[in-house]
Amino acid sequence: MDTLFRLDGKTAVVTGAGSGIGEAISELYAARGARVVLVDLDHAAASAVAQRITAKGGDAWALACDVSQEASVQAMVQTVRQRHDHIAILVNNAGVAHVGNALTTTAADFERLFRVTVLGVHHCTQAVLPSMIEHGGGAIVNLASIASFIALKDRWAYSMTKGAVLAMTRATALDFVDQKVRCNCVAPARIHTPFVDGFVAKNYPGREDEIKASLAKYQPVGRMGTPQEVAQLCLYLASDEASFVTGAAYPIDGGVMMQ
Ligand SMILES: NC(=O)c1ccc[n+]([C@@H]2O[C@H](COP(=O)([O-])OP(=O)(O)OC[C@H]3O[C@@H](n4cnc5c(N)ncnc54)[C@H](O)[C@@H]3O)[C@@H](O)[C@H]2O)c1
Repeated sequence: MDTLFRLDGKTAVVTGAGSGIGEAISELYAARGARVVLVDLDHAAASAVAQRITAKGGDAWALACDVSQEASVQAMVQTVRQRHDHIAILVNNAGVAHVGNALTTTAADFERLFRVTVLGVHHCTQAVLPSMIEHGGGAIVNLASIASFIALKDRWAYSMTKGAVLAMTRATALDFVDQKVRCNCVAPARIHTPFVDGFVAKNYPGREDEIKASLAKYQPVGRMGTPQEVAQLCLYLASDEASFVTGAAYPIDGGVMMQ
Protein backbone atom coordinates (compact mmCIF):
# COMPACT_ATOMS: atom_id res chain seq x y z
CA MET A 1 0.00 0.00 0.00
CA ASP A 2 2.77 2.43 0.86
CA THR A 3 4.04 2.20 -2.70
CA LEU A 4 0.92 4.07 -3.86
CA PHE A 5 1.01 7.86 -4.34
CA ARG A 6 4.79 8.09 -3.99
CA LEU A 7 6.68 11.04 -5.48
CA ASP A 8 10.19 9.74 -4.83
CA GLY A 9 12.93 11.48 -6.80
CA LYS A 10 10.53 14.03 -8.29
CA THR A 11 11.06 17.76 -7.98
CA ALA A 12 7.85 19.65 -7.23
CA VAL A 13 7.51 23.43 -7.42
CA VAL A 14 4.63 24.65 -5.25
CA THR A 15 3.66 28.34 -5.47
CA GLY A 16 2.10 30.13 -2.52
CA ALA A 17 3.71 27.47 -0.32
CA GLY A 18 4.16 29.66 2.74
CA SER A 19 0.57 29.34 3.96
CA GLY A 20 -2.68 27.39 3.89
CA ILE A 21 -3.25 24.93 1.05
CA GLY A 22 0.22 25.41 -0.49
CA GLU A 23 1.82 24.68 2.87
CA ALA A 24 -0.23 21.48 3.28
CA ILE A 25 0.59 20.36 -0.28
CA SER A 26 4.31 20.95 0.31
CA GLU A 27 4.26 18.98 3.56
CA LEU A 28 2.40 16.04 2.02
CA TYR A 29 4.48 15.94 -1.20
CA ALA A 30 7.68 15.94 0.89
CA ALA A 31 6.30 13.16 3.11
CA ARG A 32 5.65 11.13 -0.05
CA GLY A 33 9.26 11.51 -1.20
CA ALA A 34 9.30 14.61 -3.41
CA ARG A 35 12.00 17.29 -3.42
CA VAL A 36 9.78 20.28 -2.78
CA VAL A 37 10.59 23.84 -3.84
CA LEU A 38 8.45 26.20 -1.79
CA VAL A 39 7.87 29.37 -3.76
CA ASP A 40 6.29 32.41 -2.13
CA LEU A 41 6.29 36.19 -2.14
CA ASP A 42 6.64 35.84 1.64
CA HIS A 43 10.06 34.22 1.85
CA ALA A 44 10.07 34.10 5.66
CA ALA A 45 6.80 32.12 5.68
CA ALA A 46 8.03 29.67 3.00
CA SER A 47 11.36 29.25 4.84
CA ALA A 48 9.58 28.43 8.09
CA VAL A 49 7.53 25.72 6.34
CA ALA A 50 10.66 24.38 4.60
CA GLN A 51 12.47 24.19 7.94
CA ARG A 52 9.62 22.21 9.48
CA ILE A 53 9.67 19.77 6.55
CA THR A 54 13.45 19.40 6.71
CA ALA A 55 13.30 18.79 10.47
CA LYS A 56 11.02 15.80 9.75
CA GLY A 57 13.54 14.41 7.24
CA GLY A 58 11.92 15.82 4.10
CA ASP A 59 13.64 17.57 1.20
CA ALA A 60 12.46 21.18 1.03
CA TRP A 61 13.87 24.44 -0.24
CA ALA A 62 12.26 27.89 -0.04
CA LEU A 63 12.64 30.47 -2.80
CA ALA A 64 11.30 34.02 -2.92
CA CYS A 65 9.31 34.74 -6.05
CA ASP A 66 6.46 37.00 -7.13
CA VAL A 67 4.46 34.87 -9.57
CA SER A 68 2.87 37.99 -11.08
CA GLN A 69 6.30 39.11 -12.36
CA GLU A 70 7.66 37.23 -15.37
CA ALA A 71 11.32 38.04 -14.56
CA SER A 72 10.91 36.81 -11.00
CA VAL A 73 9.38 33.52 -12.19
CA GLN A 74 12.06 33.02 -14.87
CA ALA A 75 14.82 33.59 -12.30
CA MET A 76 13.18 31.19 -9.84
CA VAL A 77 12.83 28.41 -12.43
CA GLN A 78 16.42 28.93 -13.62
CA THR A 79 17.65 28.61 -10.02
CA VAL A 80 15.65 25.42 -9.50
CA ARG A 81 16.86 23.90 -12.77
CA GLN A 82 20.49 24.52 -11.86
CA ARG A 83 19.97 22.13 -8.95
CA HIS A 84 17.26 19.79 -10.29
CA ASP A 85 16.93 20.02 -14.08
CA HIS A 86 13.67 18.13 -14.33
CA ILE A 87 10.77 19.85 -12.62
CA ALA A 88 8.31 16.94 -12.69
CA ILE A 89 5.47 18.64 -10.81
CA LEU A 90 4.16 22.21 -10.75
CA VAL A 91 1.38 23.28 -8.39
CA ASN A 92 -0.04 26.68 -9.33
CA ASN A 93 -1.51 27.51 -5.94
CA ALA A 94 -0.63 31.18 -5.28
CA GLY A 95 -3.77 33.28 -5.40
CA VAL A 96 -5.38 36.31 -3.84
CA ALA A 97 -8.98 36.97 -2.82
CA HIS A 98 -11.22 39.99 -3.20
CA VAL A 99 -14.78 40.76 -2.11
CA GLY A 100 -16.87 42.93 -4.41
CA ASN A 101 -19.34 42.96 -7.29
CA ALA A 102 -19.09 44.59 -10.73
CA LEU A 103 -20.04 47.97 -9.28
CA THR A 104 -17.81 47.94 -6.21
CA THR A 105 -14.64 46.38 -7.65
CA THR A 106 -12.11 48.91 -8.86
CA ALA A 107 -10.13 48.34 -12.05
CA ALA A 108 -6.98 48.36 -9.90
CA ASP A 109 -8.26 45.48 -7.75
CA PHE A 110 -9.48 43.59 -10.84
CA GLU A 111 -6.05 43.96 -12.43
CA ARG A 112 -4.23 42.97 -9.23
CA LEU A 113 -6.16 39.70 -9.04
CA PHE A 114 -5.58 39.07 -12.73
CA ARG A 115 -1.84 39.64 -12.33
CA VAL A 116 -1.37 37.18 -9.45
CA THR A 117 -3.87 34.42 -10.18
CA VAL A 118 -4.10 34.43 -14.00
CA LEU A 119 -0.80 35.87 -15.24
CA GLY A 120 0.94 34.03 -12.38
CA VAL A 121 -0.34 30.69 -13.71
CA HIS A 122 0.73 31.72 -17.21
CA HIS A 123 4.25 32.73 -16.12
CA CYS A 124 4.85 29.60 -14.03
CA THR A 125 3.39 27.19 -16.59
CA GLN A 126 5.39 28.77 -19.41
CA ALA A 127 8.62 28.75 -17.40
CA VAL A 128 8.31 25.13 -16.21
CA LEU A 129 6.96 23.42 -19.37
CA PRO A 130 10.34 23.27 -21.19
CA SER A 131 11.83 21.26 -18.31
CA MET A 132 8.89 18.82 -18.36
CA ILE A 133 8.99 18.44 -22.14
CA GLU A 134 12.79 17.94 -22.28
CA HIS A 135 12.57 15.19 -19.65
CA GLY A 136 9.61 13.24 -20.99
CA GLY A 137 6.67 14.80 -19.17
CA GLY A 138 5.26 16.07 -15.93
CA ALA A 139 2.14 16.91 -13.97
CA ILE A 140 0.62 20.34 -13.38
CA VAL A 141 -2.00 20.86 -10.69
CA ASN A 142 -3.86 24.18 -10.65
CA LEU A 143 -5.93 25.61 -7.81
CA ALA A 144 -9.29 26.56 -9.25
CA SER A 145 -12.41 27.00 -7.08
CA ILE A 146 -16.11 26.22 -7.09
CA ALA A 147 -16.23 29.83 -8.39
CA SER A 148 -14.91 28.34 -11.65
CA PHE A 149 -18.32 26.69 -12.07
CA ILE A 150 -20.96 28.54 -10.07
CA ALA A 151 -21.68 32.10 -9.01
CA LEU A 152 -20.54 33.16 -5.55
CA LYS A 153 -21.91 36.40 -4.18
CA ASP A 154 -19.54 39.37 -4.32
CA ARG A 155 -16.67 37.51 -5.95
CA TRP A 156 -16.56 39.39 -9.29
CA ALA A 157 -12.79 39.60 -9.75
CA TYR A 158 -12.07 36.34 -7.93
CA SER A 159 -14.53 34.44 -10.16
CA MET A 160 -12.83 35.92 -13.22
CA THR A 161 -9.50 34.51 -12.09
CA LYS A 162 -10.83 31.06 -11.25
CA GLY A 163 -12.82 30.77 -14.48
CA ALA A 164 -9.56 31.51 -16.27
CA VAL A 165 -7.67 28.89 -14.24
CA LEU A 166 -10.19 26.22 -15.28
CA ALA A 167 -9.94 27.25 -18.95
CA MET A 168 -6.13 27.36 -18.82
CA THR A 169 -6.07 23.91 -17.22
CA ARG A 170 -7.96 22.40 -20.14
CA ALA A 171 -5.92 24.36 -22.71
CA THR A 172 -2.61 23.24 -21.17
CA ALA A 173 -3.78 19.63 -21.00
CA LEU A 174 -4.79 19.59 -24.67
CA ASP A 175 -1.77 21.48 -26.02
CA PHE A 176 0.82 19.29 -24.25
CA VAL A 177 -0.85 15.88 -24.11
CA ASP A 178 1.58 14.54 -26.75
CA GLN A 179 4.54 15.65 -24.63
CA LYS A 180 3.17 13.61 -21.69
CA VAL A 181 2.40 16.67 -19.60
CA ARG A 182 -0.80 16.16 -17.63
CA CYS A 183 -2.67 19.19 -16.32
CA ASN A 184 -5.62 19.09 -13.93
CA CYS A 185 -7.24 21.39 -11.42
CA VAL A 186 -8.98 21.10 -8.09
CA ALA A 187 -11.99 23.23 -7.23
CA PRO A 188 -12.39 23.69 -3.49
CA ALA A 189 -15.32 25.27 -1.67
CA ARG A 190 -14.41 27.01 1.62
CA ILE A 191 -11.19 25.72 3.07
CA HIS A 192 -10.22 27.01 6.49
CA THR A 193 -6.91 28.76 5.85
CA PRO A 194 -5.34 32.15 6.68
CA PHE A 195 -6.78 33.26 3.29
CA VAL A 196 -10.30 32.85 4.75
CA ASP A 197 -9.39 34.33 8.13
CA GLY A 198 -7.75 37.29 6.36
CA PHE A 199 -10.67 38.22 4.15
CA VAL A 200 -13.23 37.75 6.94
CA ALA A 201 -11.21 40.02 9.25
CA LYS A 202 -10.75 42.61 6.51
CA ASN A 203 -14.25 42.65 5.08
CA TYR A 204 -16.45 41.85 8.10
CA PRO A 205 -14.72 43.44 11.13
CA GLY A 206 -16.58 42.64 14.35
CA ARG A 207 -18.69 39.92 12.65
CA GLU A 208 -15.95 37.31 12.28
CA ASP A 209 -17.66 34.47 14.23
CA GLU A 210 -21.04 34.98 12.53
CA ILE A 211 -19.46 35.06 9.05
CA LYS A 212 -17.27 31.99 9.72
CA ALA A 213 -20.33 30.05 10.95
CA SER A 214 -22.21 30.96 7.75
CA LEU A 215 -19.16 29.97 5.67
CA ALA A 216 -19.17 26.56 7.39
CA LYS A 217 -22.93 26.06 6.89
CA TYR A 218 -22.65 26.82 3.17
CA GLN A 219 -21.20 23.32 2.61
CA PRO A 220 -23.84 20.56 2.95
CA VAL A 221 -21.39 18.62 5.18
CA GLY A 222 -21.64 21.56 7.62
CA ARG A 223 -18.03 22.65 7.84
CA MET A 224 -15.17 24.16 5.89
CA GLY A 225 -12.62 21.80 4.40
CA THR A 226 -9.07 21.49 5.65
CA PRO A 227 -5.91 22.28 3.67
CA GLN A 228 -4.85 18.66 4.23
CA GLU A 229 -7.98 17.35 2.48
CA VAL A 230 -7.16 19.47 -0.58
CA ALA A 231 -3.51 18.38 -0.42
CA GLN A 232 -4.54 14.70 -0.57
CA LEU A 233 -6.41 15.26 -3.84
CA CYS A 234 -3.44 17.22 -5.18
CA LEU A 235 -1.18 14.31 -4.23
CA TYR A 236 -3.28 11.92 -6.29
CA LEU A 237 -3.25 14.24 -9.31
CA ALA A 238 0.52 14.69 -9.17
CA SER A 239 1.20 10.97 -8.74
CA ASP A 240 1.68 8.31 -11.41
CA GLU A 241 -1.57 6.70 -10.16
CA ALA A 242 -3.34 9.55 -12.02
CA SER A 243 -1.59 8.71 -15.31
CA PHE A 244 -4.94 8.47 -17.19
CA VAL A 245 -6.24 11.76 -15.79
CA THR A 246 -5.73 15.02 -17.67
CA GLY A 247 -7.75 18.13 -18.44
CA ALA A 248 -10.02 17.35 -15.49
CA ALA A 249 -11.46 19.56 -12.77
CA TYR A 250 -12.24 17.99 -9.40
CA PRO A 251 -14.62 19.70 -6.99
CA ILE A 252 -13.58 19.21 -3.35
CA ASP A 253 -16.45 21.02 -1.75
CA GLY A 254 -18.33 19.19 1.00
CA GLY A 255 -21.19 18.60 -1.43
CA VAL A 256 -21.77 22.14 -2.73
CA MET A 257 -21.84 21.16 -6.39
CA MET A 258 -24.36 18.32 -5.94
CA GLN A 259 -27.25 20.74 -5.39
N1 LIG B 1 -9.13 28.84 1.14
C1 LIG B 1 -10.18 28.63 0.39
O1 LIG B 1 -11.33 28.59 0.84
C2 LIG B 1 -9.99 28.41 -1.09
C3 LIG B 1 -11.08 27.94 -1.83
C4 LIG B 1 -10.92 27.74 -3.20
C5 LIG B 1 -9.70 28.00 -3.80
N2 LIG B 1 -8.66 28.46 -3.03
C6 LIG B 1 -7.41 28.74 -3.73
O2 LIG B 1 -6.35 28.03 -3.15
C7 LIG B 1 -5.14 28.76 -3.26
C8 LIG B 1 -4.47 28.89 -1.90
O3 LIG B 1 -5.39 29.47 -1.01
P1 LIG B 1 -5.07 29.57 0.56
O4 LIG B 1 -6.39 29.68 1.19
O5 LIG B 1 -4.12 28.52 0.98
O6 LIG B 1 -4.34 31.02 0.57
P2 LIG B 1 -3.32 31.71 1.63
O7 LIG B 1 -3.59 33.18 1.56
O8 LIG B 1 -3.39 31.02 2.96
O9 LIG B 1 -1.92 31.43 0.96
C9 LIG B 1 -1.59 32.01 -0.28
C10 LIG B 1 -0.10 32.12 -0.37
O10 LIG B 1 0.20 32.69 -1.65
C11 LIG B 1 1.23 33.65 -1.49
N3 LIG B 1 1.17 34.62 -2.57
C12 LIG B 1 0.26 35.60 -2.76
N4 LIG B 1 0.58 36.34 -3.84
C13 LIG B 1 1.72 35.81 -4.34
C14 LIG B 1 2.55 36.15 -5.44
N5 LIG B 1 2.27 37.18 -6.21
N6 LIG B 1 3.64 35.39 -5.67
C15 LIG B 1 3.94 34.32 -4.87
N7 LIG B 1 3.21 33.99 -3.81
C16 LIG B 1 2.10 34.73 -3.54
C17 LIG B 1 0.96 34.28 -0.14
O11 LIG B 1 2.12 34.92 0.38
C18 LIG B 1 0.50 33.07 0.69
O12 LIG B 1 1.61 32.45 1.34
C19 LIG B 1 -5.54 30.10 -3.89
O13 LIG B 1 -5.30 30.05 -5.28
C20 LIG B 1 -7.01 30.20 -3.61
O14 LIG B 1 -7.70 30.99 -4.54
C21 LIG B 1 -8.78 28.67 -1.70
